[in-house]
Amino acid sequence: MLDIRITKTQHPKDKPDQEHLGFGHYYTDHMFIMDYTEGQGWHDARIEPYHALSLDPAAMVFHYAQESFEGMKAYRTADGNVQLFRPYKNAARFASTHRRLCIPEIPEEDFVQAVKALVDIDRDWVPNAPNTSLYLRPFTIATEAHLGVKPSNSYAFIVIASPSGAYYASGLAPVKIYVEDEYVRATPGGTGYIKCGGNYAASLAGQEKAEKLGYSQVLWLDGIERKYVEEVGSMNCFFKIAGKIYTAPCVGTVLPGITRMSCIELLRHWGYEVNDTDRLAIADVIKAADNGTLEEVFGTGTAAVISPVGQLYYQGKECVVGDGKTGEVTQKLYDTLTGIQYGRLEDTHGWIEKV
Ligand code: COI
Repeated sequence: MLDIRITKTQHPKDKPDQEHLGFGHYYTDHMFIMDYTEGQGWHDARIEPYHALSLDPAAMVFHYAQESFEGMKAYRTADGNVQLFRPYKNAARFASTHRRLCIPEIPEEDFVQAVKALVDIDRDWVPNAPNTSLYLRPFTIATEAHLGVKPSNSYAFIVIASPSGAYYASGLAPVKIYVEDEYVRATPGGTGYIKCGGNYAASLAGQEKAEKLGYSQVLWLDGIERKYVEEVGSMNCFFKIAGKIYTAPCVGTVLPGITRMSCIELLRHWGYEVNDTDRLAIADVIKAADNGTLEEVFGTGTAAVISPVGQLYYQGKECVVGDGKTGEVTQKLYDTLTGIQYGRLEDTHGWIEKV
């Protein structure tokens, strides 16, 4: 259990207009910080007024990207309460990211305590307009000033919070996706299965290329053969073909998304067959689009929630998914998941943690 020292801001900020939040533009009054020093471990947990960081230009995070992060949300329910969705799953994934990047782990209980403490102090910042939430960004950075390549001997674990609306301006309107067959996002043995900034930096060129061609996101293929579907932009991806549902297996190159995991559990609970162990070839997706059995495609993620895909572009060919509109399963998943998150539906799975 952390002993968190709290310093409240003397200068509370004006809150932004809830109807025009966008994603990730505003930050609350406070932040959580905890330091790690070799020999001492994690120490000095505190909540402070939100402020800029002062770091040595040689801090290792700037040079070798020793950095981990998570994405979570605090939701406002109709009765005014505030709640989190499966925060221990984020804590466990954060620990897995730390292990891969040689960053000392943060006990799962401490991670959740830190997040809850920040949400609690900035509780008034959790918006209540439809489809808004307080997006939470826990992250760890390597702070040692040193230019040799090795794990840092000091770190800062920080949590910031951003009142946000929809991640994609299009909301639940189907998007057009570019299937990327030149750049790759992840390769076996790499870092595709963890949440680190480098994965997202590596995705920017593909994303930019797709946008220039008029597509809003990229569907990544596997890094070896460029044959099997993996992820879409900042989301996991699901395909419904002839009644069966497929999503890429989490075998090292795909992020084990908490929304992905929850969708699989809901779909199985509803009786759908979900294949999350065999890889799905892009050729089979295109074939299904051609013969009319590609019924639905959607992305899943904490920030993006459920994002329907209406069209795919692959090697010179445009394919329409289903009738190009939001599919029935996509809509049901969106309604159920957000229903549980915002407290409109009963939490029969034990996924909600009140703050
Ligand atoms: C999230 O869905 O929370 C993420 O972390 C994706 C992010 C890059 C926006």
